[in-house]
Amino acid sequence: MSANDHPDFLVIGHRGARGHAPENTLLALDTGIRLGAHWVEFDVQLHPAGALLVFHDLSLDRTTNGKGRLGDCELGALRRLDAGQGQQIPTLEEALDLIEQRAGANIELKTAEGTGEAVAAVLRQYLDAGWPAERFLVSSFHLPELWEFHQAAPEIPVAVLLGGVPLDWAGCATELQAAAVNISSEFVDPRLVADAKAHGRRVYVYTVNDPAEMRALKALGVDGVFTDYPDRALRV
Ligand code: G3P
Ligand code: MG
Repeated sequence: MSANDHPDFLVIGHRGARGHAPENTLLALDTGIRLGAHWVEFDVQLHPAGALLVFHDLSLDRTTNGKGRLGDCELGALRRLDAGQGQQIPTLEEALDLIEQRAGANIELKTAEGTGEAVAAVLRQYLDAGWPAERFLVSSFHLPELWEFHQAAPEIPVAVLLGGVPLDWAGCATELQAAAVNISSEFVDPRLVADAKAHGRRVYVYTVNDPAEMRALKALGVDGVFTDYPDRALRV
């Protein structure tokens, strides 16, 4: 693992770099990388037709010119939608081919029911093609689905996503043998950070766009941030 994979303070472009380009598009991923993000984060959903799509919401309304639920829309029609600035909703494979190992890829599993296994099958092809497992980090709020992913691809690092402070602090990360705990900026508790780090886990915080907050988190021992503005974080 090179120092570039995990520098002192990791800058992770959130949904690519959603402060600069339409979120979760190839343009946003490329923008994040060009701005210097060490890693890019993007959300992945398993469509009923079997495709893995890079998309955040369950509904198409906010980020495309479509309407209704993504899962109710036929795949061909989905791919004809405008996801912003003429961008298409990408597939997982298109996102990875665009990233081309220029940055680490943090894949967030948004859906359950087979998403973990499907993502593992795709990533296996990239491992077979020579991508190091450490260039991937697979995360989810849905910890049972993350567990399914971990069973299918134990060599690929995983991160638990937390939107609050659990009773057992970072205990779920131990159960999942997770490399990292990714926690909301609203719930950064020094005891949670200390517990994670005492067990050798990294701590990344989402979503942080204010440089003063980035500096405070760094002082607390946090290992990096998800940000819509990687350029700001790189200046911290
Ligand atoms: O993975 C960090 C962050 O992306 C989690 O929240 O809602 O932006 O996917 P969300
Ligand atoms: Mg996400």
